[in-house]
Amino acid sequence: MEINNGEQFNLTPRSIVDELDRYIIGQKKAKRACAIALRNRWRRQQVEPELRDEILPKNIIMIGPTGVGKTEIARRLSRLAGAPFIKVEASKFTEVGYVGRDVDSMIRDLVEMGIGIVKEEESTRVQEKARISAEEKLLDILFPTPVPAPATPGTLPDASNDPDALERRKTTREKLRKMLKSGALDDRTVEIETSDNNQPFVEIFSPQGMEEMGINLKDMFGGMSKTKKRKVTVPEALEILTSQEAGKLIDMDRVTKDAINRVENHGIVFLDEIDKIAGRESARGPDVSREGVQRDLLPIIEGSTVMTKHGSVRTDHILFIAAGAFHVAKPSDLIPEIQGRFPIRVELDNLGENEFYRILTEPQNALLRQYSALLSTEGVILEFDDSAVRKIASIAADLNRTHENIGARRLHTVMEALLDELSFTAPERSGERFIIDEAHVVNTLKPILEKEDLSRYIL
Ligand SMILES: Nc1ncnc2c1ncn2[C@@H]1O[C@H](COP(=O)(O)OP(=O)(O)OP(=O)(O)O)[C@@H](O)[C@H]1O
Ligand SMILES: [Mg+2]
Repeated sequence: MEINNGEQFNLTPRSIVDELDRYIIGQKKAKRACAIALRNRWRRQQVEPELRDEILPKNIIMIGPTGVGKTEIARRLSRLAGAPFIKVEASKFTEVGYVGRDVDSMIRDLVEMGIGIVKEEESTRVQEKARISAEEKLLDILFPTPVPAPATPGTLPDASNDPDALERRKTTREKLRKMLKSGALDDRTVEIETSDNNQPFVEIFSPQGMEEMGINLKDMFGGMSKTKKRKVTVPEALEILTSQEAGKLIDMDRVTKDAINRVENHGIVFLDEIDKIAGRESARGPDVSREGVQRDLLPIIEGSTVMTKHGSVRTDHILFIAAGAFHVAKPSDLIPEIQGRFPIRVELDNLGENEFYRILTEPQNALLRQYSALLSTEGVILEFDDSAVRKIASIAADLNRTHENIGARRLHTVMEALLDELSFTAPERSGERFIIDEAHVVNTLKPILEKEDLSRYIL
């Protein structure tokens, strides 16, 4: 069976960078490296099978200070690739035998992600079919077919076998169908069977060790869900029946197989804080397991088989994108085998005033847009004068220079302080319009900025 290696994996490096540009300002080198890595996986899929298996992914290390877009690039990348993606903190892992998560768990999580993605795709694919059979089901409920009564001697022949009666039933059913489609039945209620998963949510914590085996208590109990009759409106019934029918149309075995294949060939693991586990042996104390964690990671990165409850997964072609600030440790402090598996190194640039200005205004999800949208729910119109945006960018850049450099995250703290008053009083100011200008920015932030120790806490 040909596994989906179609459209969504087919983006050229240039179009990948263009897509990333919509959300992330600057960082050209990192975007390019990721775009090439992604395109190479598509290229690999096109190569004849014999050679294909020899072509290993070129993993990437992104090096850069905090808050400059490392995680954001990886996250956007996976989204546009439709690829299973997970982000893990390298420092969370511990050597086998210690308390903490074992490294295999990230592959198991990746498989869960893969299953989610494929299932979602499948359910969109069968949506129309499901809708049609849901409609039939609903018509059966609204207008049940009479069960033919057993013929008792001396009674009239069963009406349900009478061709005229059958014809009449058919006409009535079609009439009902028309009414259903036109919404004429929307106010009626019907009783349908639903799986009883609306019961109060009970969190079940798996005991340590269960997880390692890939056994999940919640799933075990999930299989025991009961069905129950519920009265719902016709449109609700249509929704519920559609998703029930969709569930029947989806072949879970195929979904699992597809998902594993997708993980093996397109999966992306984002290994954050890789610098925290850099370091060779020699240290004593808590540091002693750093090299151990690297050694545990190695087989997964080099390619091995991980057992999951959905089947075994080869990790050879999973793409790893590692990231770290590398303030203290350097990539060369990683053990040589790991270094060899991350041949591509890209440095991300520090963000300055100009980048901040663009981050505030350009991305689709730009911060200013977010705040305006939030306040518009209160009926408050919030706009920013260009001079104000420049000022915010320059204050944020200054703070990063004089205090700690936290990259674009500084914009969040500055914006919060700037809009604190308005955020609080917005519900009382419905219908008002605010245009934030430079003077407003200066006046609001000045009292905080002037007090060195106050600004350390607030901004
Ligand atoms: N170049 C950028 N363009 C647009 N937004 C950015 C950029 N860099 C960072 N941001 C925003 O700043 C926040 C933090 O970015 P991100 O999570 O990518 O940081 P990071 O580089 O992974 O930092 P850390 O090393 O602390 O994990 C996010 O909200 C992100 O959207
Ligand atoms: Mg990050």
